[in-house]
Amino acid sequence: MHTTLTLRKLKQERIPIAMMTAYDAPSAAACAQAEMDLLLVGDSAGMVIHGYTSTVPVTVEDMILHTRAVKRGAPGVFTVTDMPFLSCSGSRNEAVSAVRRTIQDGGADAVKIEGAGEFVPLITALTEGGVAVMSHLGLTPQSFAVLGGYKVQGKSEKSAGRLIEDAKQVEEAGAFALVLECVPGELAAYIASILSIPVIGIGAGSRTDGQVLVYHDALGIGNGHVPSFVKAFAHLEPSIHTGLSEYVKEVKDRSFPDASHTFTMPASILEKVIT
Ligand code: KIV
Ligand code: NA
Repeated sequence: MHTTLTLRKLKQERIPIAMMTAYDAPSAAACAQAEMDLLLVGDSAGMVIHGYTSTVPVTVEDMILHTRAVKRGAPGVFTVTDMPFLSCSGSRNEAVSAVRRTIQDGGADAVKIEGAGEFVPLITALTEGGVAVMSHLGLTPQSFAVLGGYKVQGKSEKSAGRLIEDAKQVEEAGAFALVLECVPGELAAYIASILSIPVIGIGAGSRTDGQVLVYHDALGIGNGHVPSFVKAFAHLEPSIHTGLSEYVKEVKDRSFPDASHTFTMPASILEKVIT
């Protein structure tokens, strides 16, 4: 299993880090089999699993349940769990309690926190307390109401400058890695070049230290909106529809189950119980 140190070593050796979201045991196990470096129990679960229209309704309890399933499926893969909306914005005690439960009850190896600013001192405190923290900057989906939607971040001089400063601050605070979401490739490449911690991109071009995608997007599961930066590496949705329609059809026309899917018993025994 990777550690914060081996991940940093991958960056130094210019070996890209492959990260994928996972929310349950079988998908986590499949990622482990594919030799995924990192798993992210993303609060994107709110959208791709629970059917919410944003990540805002997701709770720490939801994340704990998903994390436990993921760790059962892939106990040997370093797993980062998202701290959901406002779970780290209250008092220091509340934030630490939410993080503690995510790690102790969920079994997460690290937590991910969206944003810099007020979270910078928290990242320092958590790191000093022994928690590995991944930072998430650029498009931070929990703040879509403030950002005005899901848009590319860091395109103007002001917002690019701010992003660079935020990235330096979270590294300085002790974050072991940084997710950069939806920022121009040139800017993400620059930020990756000035930080010594790994920068994992999503919609941030090819010159980061790694990539992360949402499981369902990467495998073409679901019918929802898929951002333009996503590549589907498989197209499972049509197979799912075909399989389910076929099942309904075979139940209705009684072609399933056939003899090969049916248990039998000796007629002599059956005769004795049928009166
Ligand atoms: O929740 C999530 O899936 C994420 C990734 C998109 C980075 O935070
Ligand atoms: Na997330």
